[in-house]
Amino acid sequence: MIDRLSPEEIARNLKTKIIGSTIHIHEQTTSTMDSAKKLARTGFKNGTVIFAEEQTHGRGRSGHSWSCQKYKGLLLTILLKHTIQPDYLCLITGTISVSITETIRETLKLPAEIKWPNDILIYGKKVGGVLVALEKEPKKQPVFLIGIGININTREKELPGQTRLPATSLAIEKKEVINRNLFAAALLQDIDKWYFILKNEHYRYITERWKEFCITIGEKLTITDGGKDYTGKVIDISNNGGLMLRLKNGEIKTFRGGSATIKS
Ligand code: BTN
Repeated sequence: MIDRLSPEEIARNLKTKIIGSTIHIHEQTTSTMDSAKKLARTGFKNGTVIFAEEQTHGRGRSGHSWSCQKYKGLLLTILLKHTIQPDYLCLITGTISVSITETIRETLKLPAEIKWPNDILIYGKKVGGVLVALEKEPKKQPVFLIGIGININTREKELPGQTRLPATSLAIEKKEVINRNLFAAALLQDIDKWYFILKNEHYRYITERWKEFCITIGEKLTITDGGKDYTGKVIDISNNGGLMLRLKNGEIKTFRGGSATIKS
């Protein structure tokens, strides 16, 4: 029997203030980011979540694609009316990465970790990711489209080949089938909690938790930003979610998630 996502099942035990105020589930879409963009322009209740069982053009960060077998993952976009200083944008990605990681750890007792800024890994293999887009219209509050992709019940042979990082799913790591409706509800509940921490500008609380989960701290790596490469050791995550690197010449440089990508 195919385990399908159901708005009623997801909403059943949900006690969120904003996230999941309305839940839409599409059998197929190009990308939940496209569906969310349309909704953002036509009107929606703050915190609306769009899930899709299948995406024909799923997108990842930095122009990568995101593919997932039908009925096997969680593919969703949350629409959030939120205003944040441009310098703090990367914190949105951090907040959601923290939520996904915390939900996996707490509900499944799996050692999920974050590769800054948005890769969710288990034992070094990628299980999920976050993609944030911003919809701005004159005289209107900006709308954040928060895309989340998690491999839930994907089997080894169904994982996408040739990915930047090796891939895995929660079911592979847990060695059992996961109830996607229950996991989705736990995730939305956790995002709601962290979203209020963000909304109340308790940024330090977010970066502290992010650092606790982040495998990138202490690593020696190369970051590409604005077409230039920077090599150094990661020393911290800044108050606004940037990655702080001590370069070879001793200079400390902070990189923002929106433009910087880790090369090695
Ligand atoms: C990444 O790791 O690069 C981000 C992956 C984000 C994938 C999700 S799936 C739901 C939403 N729709 C998309 O097309 N992308 C995001």
